[in-house]
Amino acid sequence: MIVRTARLSDAEAMSRILTDIIAVTQRQRPHDQDFVRDNYINNPHGILCSVAEDENGEVLGFQSLIRAVEDNVYGVTAGWGIIGTHVSPNAARRGVGKALFAATRLAAENADLQNIDATISADNANGLAYYDSIGFQSYRTGDNTICKRFSVFSS
Ligand SMILES: CC(C)(COP(=O)(O)OP(=O)(O)OC[C@H]1O[C@@H](n2cnc3c(N)ncnc32)[C@H](O)[C@@H]1OP(=O)(O)O)[C@@H](O)C(=O)NCCC(=O)NCCS
Repeated sequence: MIVRTARLSDAEAMSRILTDIIAVTQRQRPHDQDFVRDNYINNPHGILCSVAEDENGEVLGFQSLIRAVEDNVYGVTAGWGIIGTHVSPNAARRGVGKALFAATRLAAENADLQNIDATISADNANGLAYYDSIGFQSYRTGDNTICKRFSVFSS
């Protein structure tokens, strides 16, 4: 597996991963290619969007890190990072998420981010366990969400 920066040409594979996750979890979310390009690959506030791919070049998952701006929809403090992680159900629990975070963490350090927010559905046990495992800690709750924080320079 390698981790590299996402390219526009990854949009189709990333969209398919979101579609597959929706099929398994029944949790709806935007997932078309335009959304993937605008929100992840080309987000104007993006710091890094990485994909993990296998030896055949198949995209297994992706992770985005953007900088929170004033009045962002997540209610995250401006200047913090906001992370999102999506791994294909076919590649789950093989260390893809962990490998992606190694790159994201480095990018956060280089961008001098102090904190990263992960906002997770309260009923998403896998997502909560994943962020716990990489050092995020719960710091607030929203409507059916739990927000976890990663302290970049003291974790
Ligand atoms: C949550 C998600 C990103 C995890 O990705 P992953 O590549 O399977 O995670 P990893 O294999 O790197 O696992 C790292 C650790 O996370 C925890 N973890 C991951 N999946 C887990 C699961 N299904 N059950 C319990 N713990 C889990 C474990 O501690 C694991 O370490 P271990 O395997 O050594 O025990 C992936 O399941 C996913 O994309 N889910 C759908 C989208 C989503 O919920 N995103 C996150 C919230 S927005």
